[in-house]
Amino acid sequence: MPTRDSYIHRSYRLRSLPAPIAGAMLALGLVSFASSEPATLTVRVDQPGLKIASNFYGLMTEEINYSYDGGLYGELIRNRIFQDRPIAQAGRGARGGATNPAGTPPGAPAAAQTPPPPITNTAVEKNPNLIDWSLIASDGAAGDIDIDTKDPVNTTTLKNSLRLDIRSAGTGRRVGVANDGYWGIPVRPNTTYAASFYAKASQDFQGPLTIAIEDNNGKVYASGQVRALSSAWNKYTLKIKTGQVQATVDARFVLSASNPGSIWFSLVSLFPPTYKNRPNGNRIDIMEKLADMKPSFLRFPGGNYLEGRDFENRFNWKATIGPLEERPGHMSPWTYRSTDGLGLLEFLEWCEDLNMEPIVALYAGMHLDQGRTTITGDALKPIVQEGLEEIEYITGSTSTKWGALRAKHGHPAPFRLRYVEIGNEDWLNNGMQNYAGRFAMFYDAIKAKYPDIQMISSLRSRDKYDHTRNPDLLDDHFYVSIPTALLQAHYYDKYDRAGTKIFVGEWATNTPRSGPTGHMAFALGDAAWLTGLERNSDIVGMNCYAPLFCNVNPGGMQWSINLIGYDALGSFGSPAYFVQKMFSNNRGDVILPAKLDLLPTLNADEIPQAPVSPGGAGGGATKSGGPTGPFDAVYAAASRENATGDIILKLVNVQAAPQLLKIDLQGVQTIKKEAKGEVLTGDLAAMNSVAEPSKVAPKPITINNAGPSFTCDLPAHSVTVLRLKTR
Ligand code: AHR
Repeated sequence: MPTRDSYIHRSYRLRSLPAPIAGAMLALGLVSFASSEPATLTVRVDQPGLKIASNFYGLMTEEINYSYDGGLYGELIRNRIFQDRPIAQAGRGARGGATNPAGTPPGAPAAAQTPPPPITNTAVEKNPNLIDWSLIASDGAAGDIDIDTKDPVNTTTLKNSLRLDIRSAGTGRRVGVANDGYWGIPVRPNTTYAASFYAKASQDFQGPLTIAIEDNNGKVYASGQVRALSSAWNKYTLKIKTGQVQATVDARFVLSASNPGSIWFSLVSLFPPTYKNRPNGNRIDIMEKLADMKPSFLRFPGGNYLEGRDFENRFNWKATIGPLEERPGHMSPWTYRSTDGLGLLEFLEWCEDLNMEPIVALYAGMHLDQGRTTITGDALKPIVQEGLEEIEYITGSTSTKWGALRAKHGHPAPFRLRYVEIGNEDWLNNGMQNYAGRFAMFYDAIKAKYPDIQMISSLRSRDKYDHTRNPDLLDDHFYVSIPTALLQAHYYDKYDRAGTKIFVGEWATNTPRSGPTGHMAFALGDAAWLTGLERNSDIVGMNCYAPLFCNVNPGGMQWSINLIGYDALGSFGSPAYFVQKMFSNNRGDVILPAKLDLLPTLNADEIPQAPVSPGGAGGGATKSGGPTGPFDAVYAAASRENATGDIILKLVNVQAAPQLLKIDLQGVQTIKKEAKGEVLTGDLAAMNSVAEPSKVAPKPITINNAGPSFTCDLPAHSVTVLRLKTR
């Protein structure tokens, strides 16, 4: 960010001046629309104002876009308990016909969803529960696979087993069953994988059973053997290790044998190394990306994933805890089946691993069915009770029933829980008709037992809803176009300061929808909007972008524009991710009043336009749609970090040209000449990918002319974070 003498000619808004004075100045020619003055940012360092909550930046997550299965959750075997079925190709409205102005219109998959590839697995024609599994047989060998429901491992969860009949085999002639994982099994060099499965065999089967990660031609990357199988179900666990191989996703997991007989399998699992070596844990690269963001909280489990398309498929927390053998999984509203391998305790451990506090949304009786089956009144009482039990599972000591169960599941220490949200987006699905009653039931029960827990309503501030009880926070959601994001950088400026505090529990600049992750243009909208949230942090207590994750393989995405993308092997942060990281890593403790003067304004043609990806959504539009302006050209937030005394400036220039900015820090004696920071800039159409994860990434900057008053140049289309040293 070098200093420069030039400036750009734009219309200037005399924002800080009383209208008559500004008018007079214009008339006198003291200020013109082609002013030779830079814009000025005046920061009142001597008037520290609002405190920024220390948990201002966090994460929101749900099972969408293969966020956990095929994403964060380490499991590599797809359809491990043989309950999945092929995903319907048509008519798969994301959320059971719910209407949702904030997000993807259900029933309009073309706009935001890529169809899954056609099914090539012939076994599925015999039994749909064989999806993702296929028979393999060497030349001269023969066999068959099917789903068997007789003599299951258990009758609640592992009801189906896969039966492998080896009719003809021998030395060098094997028959087996292969799983392609979630778009491939990731092979990394010198890596140990933990395989486990239940198996039993017919009396005539002579071992061994071979377990391998291999390519489609049988090239083996890692393998191991079980010498013999008994005729009763047993769980087998073994480690298999790759050597000095080339990393690839072009691999599958194979269980095979070269002796005739029948073998049954259940709960087949393969884990790579996990973050902090947690058993049943999370993928390392994605966890590291999250850790780099330094998030303060995790809002889970949804999102629509909380509500489900019906009662059966709600987030039923009790079905997500305990041994995997007792987790049947369920249909996510996002069209595919969730294993629930990443269940309530794993969400909490994820929080623990990244030092985040949980914000738990409690299922509150509403489903994604336009209110047809909403549970109210007496019928809701057991649901409220389940909510109380969920809180006890999270927070209770080991002397409580549910705290003791958590201990039995491996986590004796209670988790700290300060916030719960009642439902999700109850402004949809006719939820407002009965939300007051439902909210009150939860509110009364929870506050009676846990008076310190803050209750978040899933209704928005704009709903102006009479809850009959006072929520501690309202959950506002925004999925917007670039022009809307820019205008809404001022959304909370006029919010009633005595009004209910806000949790912005989902937001993104994401319209028009253009693919799994966003371009640089969207990141500019995000950054501008975030400066507005920071400036209003007396009202906005916390915020989190959504959705967090997307598997970028064909069929992986149900919701367009997500923060972090990945395939089986690699992951990347979008430009929006880097904005989050820059802002969250540079939090101040207190807002410093900041005012932009002689601020250029832009019309709709001059603001960043959202590009459309080839084959992506957006219908070829080049404009973002929405409001026409005028729009501010520069957005700013200033804060002070108490521990260091640093003044932190966040500056967003949405113009196609650099902006010279005079920075006037009032009420401060010393500002060191050298100041460091980061700047994110790039082509509006630029985006990151697994192959090019850093195409758009922040670059470190140092300036050497800082002082109580100095000028700097904001690059075109840029987000800058600058730390000014006061000592
Ligand atoms: O973030 C995607 C979806 O958007 C969430 O599931 C829902 O809460 C919102 O409508």
